[in-house]
Amino acid sequence: MGKIRVLDEWVANRIAAGEVVERPASVLKELVENSIDAGATEIEVKLEDGGIRLIEVSDNGDGMTKEDAILAFRRHSTSKIQTADDLQEIATLGFRGEALPSIASVAKVTIFTRPQNEQMGTYILTENGKPREISETGTRKGTRVIVENLFYNVPARKKFLKSIRTEYKHSLNTFIRFALGYPNIRFQLISNGKEVFLLLETDSITKRIKDTLGTDFSENIIEVGHSIDEISVKGFITKPSFARKSRGYDYIYVNGRFVKSPLVSAAVKNGYGAYLQKGRFPPYILFISIPPELVDPNIHPSKMAVRFKREDAIFHTVLKAVEKGFQKAKTTPEKIAPSISFKKSITTKREPTPHRVITKKASPPPQEEPDFFRMEPEINFYQVHNMFIFVETKNGILVVDQHAAHERVLYEQVLERLKSASLTGQRLLFPIVLEMTPQEMETIKEYKDAIEHLGFETRAYGSGHILIEAFPPFIKEIGNGEILHEILEDITSPEIEEPDKLKRVAASIACKAAIKAGDKLSQREMQNLFDMLFATENPFSCPHGRPTVIELTLNELERRFGR
Ligand SMILES: Nc1ncnc2c1ncn2[C@@H]1O[C@H](COP(=O)(O)OP(=O)(O)OP(=O)(O)O)[C@@H](O)[C@H]1O
Ligand SMILES: [Mg+2]
Repeated sequence: MGKIRVLDEWVANRIAAGEVVERPASVLKELVENSIDAGATEIEVKLEDGGIRLIEVSDNGDGMTKEDAILAFRRHSTSKIQTADDLQEIATLGFRGEALPSIASVAKVTIFTRPQNEQMGTYILTENGKPREISETGTRKGTRVIVENLFYNVPARKKFLKSIRTEYKHSLNTFIRFALGYPNIRFQLISNGKEVFLLLETDSITKRIKDTLGTDFSENIIEVGHSIDEISVKGFITKPSFARKSRGYDYIYVNGRFVKSPLVSAAVKNGYGAYLQKGRFPPYILFISIPPELVDPNIHPSKMAVRFKREDAIFHTVLKAVEKGFQKAKTTPEKIAPSISFKKSITTKREPTPHRVITKKASPPPQEEPDFFRMEPEINFYQVHNMFIFVETKNGILVVDQHAAHERVLYEQVLERLKSASLTGQRLLFPIVLEMTPQEMETIKEYKDAIEHLGFETRAYGSGHILIEAFPPFIKEIGNGEILHEILEDITSPEIEEPDKLKRVAASIACKAAIKAGDKLSQREMQNLFDMLFATENPFSCPHGRPTVIELTLNELERRFGR
């Protein structure tokens, strides 16, 4: 007998679930997609414990008959496509007939549903992917799907779930993506019994942007739009000064589907051109409409990647839309000019140590008065482009990145002081009110201890706002509080590997408080920086892991000059 068997449907579903259901947010995504495909104009989402314990999505869409509702849990049963040809032009968010069976194989799923024109609805409770109880029930028009105890029967997957807070953040992001993409749908989000969002339906995308991403966001946008042939792009980009340090605020919708598209991102970036500072990512929201046959969403189980048929045309339409947006906005240039502010927040006002010896460890403070006759010859520091410091050494030249070096110094000072006690913040006479996005609110909660330990005192203040009452001692000026936005962005950056929350925040504060590229330094300041850098535990890299110093040896120079 041969060794190959056809898998039981239940096993096949479990395997598919491995791809389709990664975490509560992916369940939420599938359920809301189904509601949208069913033509819902009202969608209500309930989460408990970030979705780990419960995800419930109710809609007022088409609903299902009893037969359809039972079929919906069978693998590859879908009302959305019929033939292979239909796959060529997918006009709905779902098309595989995989989501419900996959979810039901890894969680307890209950469904209530009633089609428009029927009096009674259907209730189905599933267990291990199969309907266990089916009955007639009175229920409102539309569908309600309840998913409980995700991965209860797959302990290995459950272990990979992150904290409730992290899972909640992912679910929240998913919710916001839908809310932004469909302003004409009324959305509600309730988390652990508390209403987080109630978004009334609106024709205005800007209103939806304001309601979901905040006033600050909605006040920094530039409208864009362009069409070439049947490809149309419209939406909003943000002013260059609003660009962030990490991606994650790029909302691209292709025929209503939220996607990740390197092609579109590249076109947007090109459109910004020189307006964009290196390493910054502008938030934007773009709606691309194209004939369905020109886009294939069937290339990854997440349905979030797409392949375009006319990549060139898409690229150019997006690029043109962004460029035109800028041209129009340029009539008021002050509105879009990048605000690269080089605030001087240098704190290197320490007295210089008498011996300018570059050693790795701190030399103990000299006991006797400095002996000028013993002093080493003067070291000259050269500041290049107000960014790097050059200094001659026995073996060649050292080049120091002034910002990275100061970051390292401050970081170690912060950690050193934390050993004895929390830092006492500088109290503000007039607290600063700051608007926060829901994601930022979550980050603040998640990092509350670390942030407070380092001297911030913050308090929730109305919905979507916080009060800053004190800020860390290392930060020279708090200004309008924008720095906290930057810190929150920094500490959630996926590029940073530091697992210790306190250290993550400390590194970010050090970065904000450190001198910047562009700050002019005096000989004495440069010398101080050198002394302090080489007195740190780890002078050769900044807390984010980038080098602070590089050495160009004479050997290398000679080699490069062919000597
Ligand atoms: N909220 C809903 N309202 C009405 N019908 C629904 C709803 N949810 C699911 N269905 C029906 O159940 C079917 C199966 O849903 P499921 O999500 O498993 O597959 P799909 O949406 O067709 O494809 P995909 O796997 O890509 O999501 C759908 O095709 C649809 O007919
Ligand atoms: Mg679906």
